[in-house]
Amino acid sequence: MCGIFAYLNYNVNRERSHILQVLFNGLRRLEYRGYDSAGIAIDDSSPSSSSSSSSSQCNSNSNFTPSPPLVFRQEGNIESLVKSVYQEVGEIELNLGESFCTHAGIAHTRWATHGEPAPRNSHPQTSGPGNEFLVVHNGVITNYEVLKETLLRHGFNFESETDTEVIPKLAKFVYDKANEAAVGQVVTFSQVVLEVMRHLEGAYALIFKSLHYPNELIACKRGSPLLLGVKELTENKENGSAFEDNKFLSKDGRPRELFLSSDANAVVEHTKKVLVIEDGEVVHLKDGGVSILKFENDKGENGASLSRTSSVRRALSVLEMEVEQINKGHYEHYMQKEIHEQPESLTTTMRGRLIHRGSSKSKSVLLGGLKDHLKTIRRSRRIVFIGCGTSYNAALAARPILEELSGIPVTMEIASDLLDREGPIYREDTAVFVSQSGETADTLLALEYALDNGALCVGITNTVGSAIARNTHCGVHINAGAEIGVASTKAYTSQIVVMVMLALAIGGDTISNQTRREAIIDGLFDLPNKVREVLKLDQVMKELAKLLIAEQSLLVFGRGYNYATALEGALKVKEVALMHSEGILAGEMKHGPLALVDENLPIVVIATRDACFSKQQSVIQQLHARKGRLIVMCSKGDAATVCPNEYCRVIEVPEDVDCLQPVINVVPLQLLAYHLTVLRGFNVDQPRNLAKSVTTQ
Ligand code: F6R
Repeated sequence: MCGIFAYLNYNVNRERSHILQVLFNGLRRLEYRGYDSAGIAIDDSSPSSSSSSSSSQCNSNSNFTPSPPLVFRQEGNIESLVKSVYQEVGEIELNLGESFCTHAGIAHTRWATHGEPAPRNSHPQTSGPGNEFLVVHNGVITNYEVLKETLLRHGFNFESETDTEVIPKLAKFVYDKANEAAVGQVVTFSQVVLEVMRHLEGAYALIFKSLHYPNELIACKRGSPLLLGVKELTENKENGSAFEDNKFLSKDGRPRELFLSSDANAVVEHTKKVLVIEDGEVVHLKDGGVSILKFENDKGENGASLSRTSSVRRALSVLEMEVEQINKGHYEHYMQKEIHEQPESLTTTMRGRLIHRGSSKSKSVLLGGLKDHLKTIRRSRRIVFIGCGTSYNAALAARPILEELSGIPVTMEIASDLLDREGPIYREDTAVFVSQSGETADTLLALEYALDNGALCVGITNTVGSAIARNTHCGVHINAGAEIGVASTKAYTSQIVVMVMLALAIGGDTISNQTRREAIIDGLFDLPNKVREVLKLDQVMKELAKLLIAEQSLLVFGRGYNYATALEGALKVKEVALMHSEGILAGEMKHGPLALVDENLPIVVIATRDACFSKQQSVIQQLHARKGRLIVMCSKGDAATVCPNEYCRVIEVPEDVDCLQPVINVVPLQLLAYHLTVLRGFNVDQPRNLAKSVTTQ
């Protein structure tokens, strides 16, 4: 989905070139959220108008009359924007060395929802000529058509097909009306934005910049994520950071830099001190201070809308994230890095959660976020897994072990389908929401639905502070570290591991299941080593990718624990390599898919050792009888057993406990998808038409 970013330097000289760099770098960090167009808004000229780069003296002029902000928008990725900005800066003869004592810039990277990728549909969207109000937006305004009609009647002209354009135009409308009504009184920026918010429906994170309020920014949100980063440029000698001491950032004149961003990736290189903005909050950055208002829009008794605002004071939190996590290191692509760092990400996922006290009886699992709810979960009538895409597949991989260890029926729901059907969710259910980002719109709406129906809601996410993490009753973070490649890889394996631990935690420790539990816990301890081993297949998978490079289609057959692996492997291939690929439940082969089999279509069959092994051997025989072009994934040493002839290609993987085998088996398929994509010349980190967190329905 889209990424929004803003940078405000207060009381410290920053050159235009520096400001541009900060904005562009912010966008680069957010590019995985959308990459079909981008834009920025900066100031035209500074009050101090110094062109000296050496002076750090900050000299602002309060009598300065600002000129309209400059807006640059470009179709394509961030680098296309960067190129066009420097070209335009040259053409309009803007001095890159000009410095600004205080400057507020905003930026956006877009994943199109309304309107094709084109400069007019890119953000910042504007109130019209003069750029009186500018807005960058992540989300969707559902009532934009009604608002647009009203604004058209009031003489506004629209140039884009976006839902966002109504927002700056509404801001101008509100501003003009308020000034007409309040002659002689000052209408503040927050008053304008609060009034705009009152009319907006849908999901949004917004940043406003205005000609009328130079050097100020306003951010607000409902549904979409947004955070504020604060970098103090001088130490508060008495109390350390002003923010920590006062729990609020005051207008004390001290130089600082403020950042607003859709996620922490774009902030962590500047500061680790952040404030996660909550739904309904309006954050006003002015004179170096930050003030927060909470906006609530309720329906009164007679159905009329009632809005209330109150002031909020909240402490900053410290990001537990390192800049290295969001760099590619020595890898060429994020997806490649994230596949290869799975031994480490899995270790982090399990850290402190597996207890092994020496004797065999004392192996257990501790999930702190669930401990107060385990009893309720054990009493549930049903556990319902809810997610989308890869997160759904991870839950599917964990379903059999959860059923086995807990004895509770587990059902699977794709979030959008649950909502479409308004499927039954009961008070006696435990609903488990699985989401890497913690902000996927469908999963979030399904969460609201389950909460309304009274279920106990558990969140499994990779994003601390995300909407799903905040709005569920309890949960577990998968701690896989930032995942930036649009195709999810390391989050998938960490999600499975968390759900296996969940099964162990819910299942409890009975004599009858002791041996099984211990085998799984031992398997978990050893899992990172096994993943390290399977990663050595990198070159083998590259060779296989070379063979498959020109294929139109690839089928992946799996069953039992590895039905999910088949779905996930096929999803990876289709989303990044742009090759049709389908994961097929091998048990369903004879009920249709067999018709596709011939000597041309490549078919991967997952036949590692577990309870389904002999059934998969029979599937291989049947595919062979139809001259199927087979690629068999089997446990080490089984090649001769599973391969029907010398033409069958084999992927031999280390063997593990059945419920952990999907973690190992998916890795060669991730590698295959990665190499196929690179060999086919596609962008592996930014697949066509996709974005990382899908925050619209
Ligand atoms: C595929 C992929 C998507 C996501 C899906 C849910 O590689 O990444 O299928 O898994 O959009 O996203 P989250 O897990 O953030 O809810």
